Amino acid sequence: MIRTIVTVAGFAAFAAPAFATTYNTLSGEAPLVIAHRGASGYLPEHTLAGYELAIKLGADVVEPDVAITSDGHLVIMHDDSLARTTNVEDLFAPRNGGYATTDFTLAEIKSLTVEPTGTASTSYPGFTPSVSTFEVPTFEEFLTFVNDYNETNGTNVGIYPESKPVSSTEKNQKIVEAMKTYGFTASTQNSYLQTFDHLAAQELSAMEDDLGMDVAVAALGYVGTVDGEYAVYDYIHGSYSTLSEIATYADGVGVYKNAKLTAEFIAAAHALGLEVHGWTFNLTDPDAAMEQYLTYIGWGLDGFFTNYTDLAVAAIAKYEAVAPVPLPAALPMLLAGFGAFGVARTRRRAA
Ligand code: G3P
Ligand code: CA
Repeated sequence: MIRTIVTVAGFAAFAAPAFATTYNTLSGEAPLVIAHRGASGYLPEHTLAGYELAIKLGADVVEPDVAITSDGHLVIMHDDSLARTTNVEDLFAPRNGGYATTDFTLAEIKSLTVEPTGTASTSYPGFTPSVSTFEVPTFEEFLTFVNDYNETNGTNVGIYPESKPVSSTEKNQKIVEAMKTYGFTASTQNSYLQTFDHLAAQELSAMEDDLGMDVAVAALGYVGTVDGEYAVYDYIHGSYSTLSEIATYADGVGVYKNAKLTAEFIAAAHALGLEVHGWTFNLTDPDAAMEQYLTYIGWGLDGFFTNYTDLAVAAIAKYEAVAPVPLPAALPMLLAGFGAFGVARTRRRAA
């Protein structure tokens, strides 16, 4: 977790390059493009091939949901059940009335194939994944994959693991320790931890502090208010956490974009030093998506959880092409005889 509210804002003001586009984000930098479950609009979700495609499409951060197997291994899976996204029903009989990840061993889960859902397919035009099969990845395989990609390509792709409810101390500890083992220890790596369980968010924050880590933590939920103050609903405990409460243990909030996520909410969070990341941006029509992204960029949203990385990247590029350059930056350009205002991203693209 990071508790450097004044420092962060002050640093952004001094560190901005001379010709930078102005953003209303907390950092003043471009919003993060967070590949939600990978390139999940195009390839099977939560697969290494999907993460690879998302990175190649320009994601800053890749997001996995993390579950635990019956024999204590962390795997990448969204649902409690294996049934929606894999062929488990073809290979195994139900256990305890279903196909809960927690009822299967890692070896059994590794025998499954992840299948496309929604708008996803098993291939993407012009893309040949370096990982040829659609297995359920372990968390360690995911971390290794991102590390290797960064090392090979000189990139800084971040990770955003979600400790999926039901959260447990065992699972949280394993997530944090694995991140430390694989070197994801600092917010400067665009790395975050997230959970819908706000007590677990506090636990994750304490665990990483104990391990000397400085990864940002986000509390997830639905925007609401408590006695006139903005809050985030923790559906696990059936209660709201106010933004000022969240600011005591977290660095940001991840909220459902269709429920009261407004410019005013974002401003209130920023006033407390909290980033705001919205989920899930999943429009497929490029024009409609562009309009939607540009609205939230104008409001200062700090990150987009998106199923279509390329559309978010295109919107940020568009914003940079049309956003006015502030006068202090524009003046030297005019004096230097530039015919048009140039712009540059302040956040380095991941790929
Ligand atoms: O973690 C943010 C977002 O991913 C929450 O939605 O259900 O896809 O995990 P979900
Ligand atoms: Ca998630």
